[in-house]
Amino acid sequence: MRAVWVTRFGGPEVLVTQETAEPVAGPGQVVVAVEFAEINFVETQLRRGISPGPPLPEPPYVSGGGVAGRVASVGEGVDPGWTGRRVVTRTATSSGGNAELAVAKEGNLVPVPDELGLAEAAALLNDGSTAVGLVNRAGIQEGDWVLVEAAAGGLGSLLVQLARSAGGRVIAAVGSEPKAELARKLGAEVVVDYGQDGWTDLVRTATGGNGPDVVFDGVGGPIGRAAFEATARGGTFSVHGASSGGASVIDPDEAARRGVTVIGLDQLFGMSDPAGARQRTERALAAAAAGHITPAIGGTYPLERASDAHKAMEARTVPGKTLLMV
Ligand SMILES: NC(=O)c1ccc[n+]([C@@H]2O[C@H](COP(=O)([O-])OP(=O)(O)OC[C@H]3O[C@@H](n4cnc5c(N)ncnc54)[C@H](OP(=O)(O)O)[C@@H]3O)[C@@H](O)[C@H]2O)c1
Repeated sequence: MRAVWVTRFGGPEVLVTQETAEPVAGPGQVVVAVEFAEINFVETQLRRGISPGPPLPEPPYVSGGGVAGRVASVGEGVDPGWTGRRVVTRTATSSGGNAELAVAKEGNLVPVPDELGLAEAAALLNDGSTAVGLVNRAGIQEGDWVLVEAAAGGLGSLLVQLARSAGGRVIAAVGSEPKAELARKLGAEVVVDYGQDGWTDLVRTATGGNGPDVVFDGVGGPIGRAAFEATARGGTFSVHGASSGGASVIDPDEAARRGVTVIGLDQLFGMSDPAGARQRTERALAAAAAGHITPAIGGTYPLERASDAHKAMEARTVPGKTLLMV
């Protein structure tokens, strides 16, 4: 089978697609015939040898931790009824997904509703799960102003839609015009470019001077810092991203003085909560099947062009989610 290897830590060029031995399902595992593999920003950071949280895999390894496809075979102790079913799942380890065949744990399999394609399911596996968790935890009230950073990204594009469904008025912050256009299409009421000086002044003005009630900080660095300073008194600030290179570091005393509740991924989900993650993916798939959210798939690349897919993600040129097609 073909698989995409991270041959060493480095730029997109270290990704090499080559023939590889087929994996076998161990006890409690299945092998999935992959049709779509998701790529998220963290995977590009891991490939560079930088980890914003998860443990760094040791090269050489097969990239990718999330797949959608059909169950090809099952291991010892697994219900044989899974064979042939359309599923979306994390891989058994955090790698091995950018391949024709990938190993997954039975307990992580999520059946894909008939109404959804496998590409949509792949786009919702991690981003949908995270977005559902973040929006629930943020407790958005009807009419709240909600600032979403990287609002046209894989995660951000779902946060925009879910925040709006929860009654929020969404301000999308993005880095380019094509992404601004997507954010508007997804329901953002106000769109700002955080590459422009004074972008938080526009956010404050849009919110009548108070600042946003809820901020989803998926970028960190100076953008996250500026967004924290703009957050309304008594608001909620979610630190869940580091695409700028470093997550926002918020002084708890400063947050307490302004009554801002800071939430982070570990508080939300626990550091390892596979059952919770699976349930949130199921909810995201159900919301998409019912037409409440639509994954915005911006780029689909064949397995052989995995390095182009990573390159595009890092160049920030893809409005929406990036996928690999097998
Ligand atoms: N996906 C998940 O389930 C998940 C889970 C936990 C945490 N997160 C975090 O959430 C964030 C979004 O994840 P994602 O996978 O959906 O990625 P993404 O938003 O599709 O891609 C990252 C985006 O960050 C923005 N960005 C701003 N400054 C940047 C910089 N200096 N370098 C590169 N990008 C920059 C870019 O959007 P613009 O061009 O619009 O600026 C870029 O497209 C990441 O920080 C990730 O660590 C995601």
